[in-house]
Amino acid sequence: MTDIFRVVAPSNIAFLKYWGKKDPVLQWPANDSLSMSLNQLSTRTSAFVHDADDHIFQFQGEALPRDHASFSKVFKHLDSLAGSFGFPEKLSLSSSNSFPTGAGIASSASGLAALTIAAIACWTGSSTFFELEAKGFSREHLAHLARLGSGSAGRSLFGGYVQWQAGSHADKQKILPLYAAAHWTLHDTVVLFSHSEKSKSSTAAHGDAWSSLLFRPRIAGAPERMNAILKALDERKMAELGPLLETEALEMHAVMLTTRPPQYYLTDESVEFLAAFRRARQEVCFEAYFTIDAGPNIHIIHEASASSALTSWLQEHYPTLQLLHDRVGEGPWLERGLN
Ligand code: PMV
Repeated sequence: MTDIFRVVAPSNIAFLKYWGKKDPVLQWPANDSLSMSLNQLSTRTSAFVHDADDHIFQFQGEALPRDHASFSKVFKHLDSLAGSFGFPEKLSLSSSNSFPTGAGIASSASGLAALTIAAIACWTGSSTFFELEAKGFSREHLAHLARLGSGSAGRSLFGGYVQWQAGSHADKQKILPLYAAAHWTLHDTVVLFSHSEKSKSSTAAHGDAWSSLLFRPRIAGAPERMNAILKALDERKMAELGPLLETEALEMHAVMLTTRPPQYYLTDESVEFLAAFRRARQEVCFEAYFTIDAGPNIHIIHEASASSALTSWLQEHYPTLQLLHDRVGEGPWLERGLN
């Protein structure tokens, strides 16, 4: 019997997006970002120490090689954590997502968050976040380690509404839980337009952001937008938050569309959907607003009161599209058991 460490870490959906970096090596973002941690959309990862020459990483039941196109960053991250803290043991890890990987739902966020917690808990023999903190791995420390694997993963270390502050220098970055989930129960209805892998991973595409003439003005305007989002969040005002979410998502995609080379994450189908959705908001009168990550899927953010009108409209007009229903969640979860 060996000890096994099981983690579930949530995906998160950004209200103000992290796109572009000031320093890719130090993983220093160009602007502050803010996200809502989700409840159901998550990655489940377990880890135990095994006596072998290398780590084993299984995803959805399949053992993946070190040079796997989409998962090499898992091994890179494990090597970097082991090297930074001198952990000699090799780990056997097994991971699965509750949603399609690489389809614009932040699988790298939940994936790298779950990997970081599971690996450090396993190496330090910690059963809880309290024990991790006592051994020098506070939640914020883990968040910074996770963001080194994938920027948005840092925000998945907390539940509720989480801000990642870029700070005046790379080592002044902060990742802070601003409001617990109970502050405002927002829902995220995800409309899935694609299950396939993205054409270019967001991690790779961050580097192109500076080649868009729209990028510098975007960075300059981000603090003002952050303040407006924080105010709407604080006052729980959907009518103020919603339009900010939509402008923000479209602006990030405008940057993506104008980089060299341009990056088209949205499909014709998802663009047509956005126009129909905006018309329906006025005609059917549901209070719901979209946001979009680096992929074609549309996240619709709304309060519980809008759920039934929104779902009826979606089912009537898009009966074949798959929907995922989620809401703000409490953050990651860790337990220790026997294998
Ligand atoms: O964490 P990365 O490098 O995969 O970047 C993700 C960036 C977006 O999801 C598009 C926005 C965000 O802030 O989550």
